[in-house]
Amino acid sequence: MTDAADPLDAGERLGAEELRALQLERLRASLRHAYEHVPFYRESFDKAGVRPEDCRTLADLARFPFTAKADLRANYPYGMFAVPRERIRRLHASSGTTGQPTVVGYTDRDLSVWADLVARSLRAAGGRPGDVVHVAYGYGLFTGGLGAHYGAERLGCTVVPASGGMTARQVRLILDLEPSVIMVTPSYMLTLLDEFERQGVDPRGTSLRVGVFGAEPWTEPMRREIEERFAIDAVDIYGLSEVMGPGVAQECAETKDGLHVWEDHFYPEIVDPVTGEVLPEGERGELVFTSLTKEAMPVIRYRTRDLTRLLPGTARVFRRMEKITGRSDDMVILRGVNVFPTQIEEIVLRTPGVAPHFQLRLTREGRLDALTVRAEARPDAPPEVRKAAARSIVAAVKDGVGVSVRAEIVEPESLERSVGKIRRIVDLRPRDDG
Ligand code: DLL
Repeated sequence: MTDAADPLDAGERLGAEELRALQLERLRASLRHAYEHVPFYRESFDKAGVRPEDCRTLADLARFPFTAKADLRANYPYGMFAVPRERIRRLHASSGTTGQPTVVGYTDRDLSVWADLVARSLRAAGGRPGDVVHVAYGYGLFTGGLGAHYGAERLGCTVVPASGGMTARQVRLILDLEPSVIMVTPSYMLTLLDEFERQGVDPRGTSLRVGVFGAEPWTEPMRREIEERFAIDAVDIYGLSEVMGPGVAQECAETKDGLHVWEDHFYPEIVDPVTGEVLPEGERGELVFTSLTKEAMPVIRYRTRDLTRLLPGTARVFRRMEKITGRSDDMVILRGVNVFPTQIEEIVLRTPGVAPHFQLRLTREGRLDALTVRAEARPDAPPEVRKAAARSIVAAVKDGVGVSVRAEIVEPESLERSVGKIRRIVDLRPRDDG
């Protein structure tokens, strides 16, 4: 796929015009594939009065209807597949904590493209053939573990399939097997940090050189915290099971300026989350993806609910997406003000005396919702520093986000730790009228 002299693969070496031409050709084929083989797409295109051949330019994609998570649920389990079940080599599924799960499938070729794209991502992150890669994303129905795993193998690395959990053993494996790369959620990386400290091992002294973090939102202050505490480079990896899994977009180590979308396989759009209108390049909105090469489960204009914006390419020809601010689903609307956990993360991480562990508690008082930021004290922070920290968080949220919250500084190690994707919001509001 790549040679030593030129570390980029063929897709990454395309010129801008070649890329647009390839995208259009693939987009037309993908629309045709979906229309001809998935009854759901045939119906939804027919209803909207569009045919695959109506897509003559990339902008024509805007004429096609969206696909939502609810459509995948309604067609559970195999209804969105465009190939006979016998050609599906693997299934993954979303956790389905909120009702019906969704299932996704891959043909042999889909799995191979996925491995290529994770290999490309890992290389962009600074990984190289011969590296030992510790994968602490969960293995199983979640796409993180197996997705990272096959990509690292494809790049020619030695993979340690640690999966999530058994934190003391993770530290042991890192010390003994000397990986240079770790792939894990940023929140679980913080749990590992605690464990290094508990065992009296200097986290800056390990063999780790690069961390490839994703599966949940994280901020620039969190990057600095992790980079400093572990003495590594921390880069962002993005993906979602409906579109493939990890490796849809990746931040490059040399620029760390947002994530290049692997646009030769996934066509991104940004739309107004309310009206669905396509927004001009550079504006913030909801990210929508159309798969360009998927066989088993093509997705056409899939609404991710992730909020970001598209920017021109830098280290690669592909456009970048800005680090994700959050999902429209974990936005809290507090007295009319939109609050994202990432906004609170930025504030907590720059507050002296406070550890990078926090939780947002939503309660109802009378008819009003109230938000309490619960953040952990650093073990060495004296009482007066903790008090000042609480005051400073309240002021910073009022100032920066524009809403009044409470802040509580809790004892070190008292908040629940993540082993995978962290849940920041604890919603204690009564159900009936919430
Ligand atoms: O989380 C795939 C993945 C695994 C990506 C490992 C990166 C690393 P899902 O479980 O389907 O798939 O969840 C997808 O997670 O829509 C985002 O809301 C969120 N997400 C994923 N990566 C990032 C990221 C995997 N880098 C959902 N930054 C997505 C912010 C992310 N949010």
